[in-house]
Amino acid sequence: MALRTLETLGELGGKTVLIRCDLNVPLSDGVITDDGRIRASLPTIQRLLTGGAAVVVMSHLGRPDGFPDPRYSLAPIAQRLGELLAATVHFASDTVGPVAQSMRAALAPGEVLVLENLRFDPRETSEIDSERVEFAALLTQGVAAFVSDGFGVVHRKQASVCEAAEAVPSFAGLLVASETDVLRRLTTDTQRPYTVVLGGSKVSDKLGVIEHLLPRVNRLLIGGGMVFTFLSAMGYNIGASLCEPDRRKTVMTYLERAKELGVDIVLPTDVVVASAFAADAQTAVTRIDAMEDTAFGASGLGLDIGPETSATFAGLIESSHTVFWNGPMGVFEMPAFAAGTRAIAKALTNVNGLSVVGGGDSAAAVRVLGFRDSDFGHISTGGGASLEFLEGKSLPGLEVLGW
Ligand code: 3PG
Repeated sequence: MALRTLETLGELGGKTVLIRCDLNVPLSDGVITDDGRIRASLPTIQRLLTGGAAVVVMSHLGRPDGFPDPRYSLAPIAQRLGELLAATVHFASDTVGPVAQSMRAALAPGEVLVLENLRFDPRETSEIDSERVEFAALLTQGVAAFVSDGFGVVHRKQASVCEAAEAVPSFAGLLVASETDVLRRLTTDTQRPYTVVLGGSKVSDKLGVIEHLLPRVNRLLIGGGMVFTFLSAMGYNIGASLCEPDRRKTVMTYLERAKELGVDIVLPTDVVVASAFAADAQTAVTRIDAMEDTAFGASGLGLDIGPETSATFAGLIESSHTVFWNGPMGVFEMPAFAAGTRAIAKALTNVNGLSVVGGGDSAAAVRVLGFRDSDFGHISTGGGASLEFLEGKSLPGLEVLGW
């Protein structure tokens, strides 16, 4: 379980190095709304440039269907990378076609070339092994080494993640090395009390992580849309709140299992109910046993945890020495339903020990709500990848690097 890291990469001067980053950032009308993943990629790229390499950067963006789609072009990301690096960053309008080939051949040491979205080519995500191998062979043509630094995609068996690592000498970048180190500390040698906070809309996305972490934690705090499946399974009327009825049985087994293990599963005691899923909806704070007694009756929607719950959760988080948080507590994008998520983020900043925010929506949430990355022990760049890591699954993109 030791990654091949950059320390073993050797002399770089004059060589071309290919790096897989995860530059899959949120965009609104072509404007980057959170550049956290681009910033997180900088240290490795800078290390390669300082070593005298010419660096070819590749990434996916979104989920295009295997053909060029301008909505998912990496052009704005290449531009932002150039601003942040303060180095020459070229952009190739294809990945393995004539444009990329000739730009790569002309790339000078100390320069960066960003390739167009990998998922514009169907071979990147193909289910057929030989197609991925063929694409990876073209991507790695003429490169001296491959560096894997897109932690957010190490759970994907895709050409630029796995087959590229098998095609040429391959190494884990600084981001992949630090992410695996921190997340490993959440599964072994954890300082107690250990609290995991889960939110987000669907409980079905979190089943694996609940199952794997339940025997390892002291407390599991649950908020977000997923909590209503728990409340519904326990017999509460939840109005028109999100619910996955086919998961009710499973969540009841978690509640029973937690009791046997002596783990506290802590659910909200109050929630913010809204008349509609809208920023200007009418709202009411209600106890969970009276959700249908508000003016909105059975059409009320639970869109955030309530203030009493926020205070309880914050107290439990602040008295822990290890905390992992994944998934917002409410619809934080709308100010009326952001208080719960803000309270949890604030509490994580006060942890005396290791506090980890698990990627995706939670990482975006803390930044949108005005927190700085340095307020937390670690903000993971991996959403699905960090959850699968904590589920104890083997991640193909790490296995090929010796993990
Ligand atoms: C993510 O956003 O979690 C990663 O970039 C992976 O994206 P994917 O789920 O589309 O593979």
